[in-house]
Amino acid sequence: MKIIKKPSNIKKIIDNEKAEGKTIGFIPTMGNLHRGHISLVEKSIRECDYTIVSIFINPLQFSENEDFANYPVTTKEDIEKLSDAGVDLLFLPNTNTMSKYPFKEVKASSLTNALCGVSRPGHFKGVTTIVSKLFDITNPDYAFFGEKDYQQLLIIREMTKDLNLPIKIISGEIIREEIGLAMSSRNSYLSYKQRINASLIFKYMKQAKSRIEEGGEKIDSIYQLKKKLMFIPNADVDYVQFFDEKNLKKITKATEYGRIFIAVYIGKTRLIDNIRVRLK
Ligand code: PAJ
Repeated sequence: MKIIKKPSNIKKIIDNEKAEGKTIGFIPTMGNLHRGHISLVEKSIRECDYTIVSIFINPLQFSENEDFANYPVTTKEDIEKLSDAGVDLLFLPNTNTMSKYPFKEVKASSLTNALCGVSRPGHFKGVTTIVSKLFDITNPDYAFFGEKDYQQLLIIREMTKDLNLPIKIISGEIIREEIGLAMSSRNSYLSYKQRINASLIFKYMKQAKSRIEEGGEKIDSIYQLKKKLMFIPNADVDYVQFFDEKNLKKITKATEYGRIFIAVYIGKTRLIDNIRVRLK
């Protein structure tokens, strides 16, 4: 696996691969890799001829009171995991190189007027700005994003369309720990007890999904879910929402699939999760 730190060096390599007719797959990450990230990597390796992963903890997407300074860094282990998985190239820039690279601020779409866009103002503008820059550097044919950050996935899809980028955005399903907790780099902040409590999020979300799919009243099912989440010890519910998964708007008669979206603080750790609900 090649490890490259400078954007200009990547461009040359990719141009050569493309000249040979190879398809390029790209997975942007902030490191501290777990099976959720690796599932996206494996998908790219299956579907593309050449796979690039980036690790960059993007300061633009953290606000002042968030965990940028404490975000877990495990570069050595990450390199091992990516190399074992069969990644061709790791882009590992530092903040200095990235801030020197010319780029435009990219506006996040109207999809940011809900969920994490409301709780974390500026977050998605930081994401679209950095992802468009990474797309420019790596020039992929396919880019892979997890449904764990479902709103991010939709926003990137929309950005790609808005900017007319010739990149296909592919989604990967949420990978969970055995106890049901969605894998996340932030899970490492949780104590043993908090992890057990956090696993209730998925359990309760699944119950609400079944209730609605079996014909139960939607508003009441979501209300009951919110009540249960509020009773998890040390939990502070940021939001519980049920939206049309296509556009993050209200469920209508035409909605085929809804999605329940949750953000909950367990102690100081903010966790997000979501689950698909079939309505037809
Ligand atoms: P990060 O949180 O490192 O996630 C990188 C990718 O892995 C994202 O597409 C995310 O949705 C996916 N992912 C994380 N946990 C997952 C899980 N349990 N199952 C499936 N996929 C999972 O998301 C970011 O970084 C950043 O915002 C980034 C896109 C890199 C821009 O800075």
